Amino acid sequence: MNKNIVILISGSGSNMAAIVKASRKGHWPQRLGAQVVAVISNKADAAGLVFARDHQIATAVLNHKAFGSREAFDAALMVEIDRHEPALVVLAGFMRILTPGFVQHYEDRLINIHPSLLPAFTGLNTHQRAIDMGCKFAGATVHRVTAELDHGDILDQAVVPVLLGDTAQALAERVLTQEHVIYPRAVESLLTQMT
Ligand code: GRF
Repeated sequence: MNKNIVILISGSGSNMAAIVKASRKGHWPQRLGAQVVAVISNKADAAGLVFARDHQIATAVLNHKAFGSREAFDAALMVEIDRHEPALVVLAGFMRILTPGFVQHYEDRLINIHPSLLPAFTGLNTHQRAIDMGCKFAGATVHRVTAELDHGDILDQAVVPVLLGDTAQALAERVLTQEHVIYPRAVESLLTQMT
């Protein structure tokens, strides 16, 4: 079985890059019949697109501002994604709220990484909010995507300490290094479970 992976990004794409590197280092095509076949961004200037092109991965840009509604954008996005017949659709810093129709279409094959220890701190500004609450630990969560934002089964988590005097940026960087560990690991684990 060909397990095609499509990754959606909006920005730097460092999680996408971590998954691509893990897939190549870990010989996913040979071992798991899996590979990252496309990277799609809603922003033309997303830095991650350069990495993808440099690694001979198909890229596409779909500017959400060119569509009249969230539904219209998601419908076009689905067409673009489905061209690749994905076994797994991976959200990696994709800064769009998805419609229930989109989520339903990819039920059981849509995952996301969120920079907090869910169920704490859904939504934005997770690091500042963790600091403001006096949390001693923060982290990241890989989870299945459901219609409710930042909910869905937890697949993997990483914990980092919140240090005295931490800024949101310092904490974000500490968390991000761990995201690069758990996201490839969670993807590999899901691929392994697929027959
Ligand atoms: C990460 O912190 C991720 O948890 C969040 O957005 C950020 C994306 O970073 N969803 P990158 O584009 O993968 O570098």
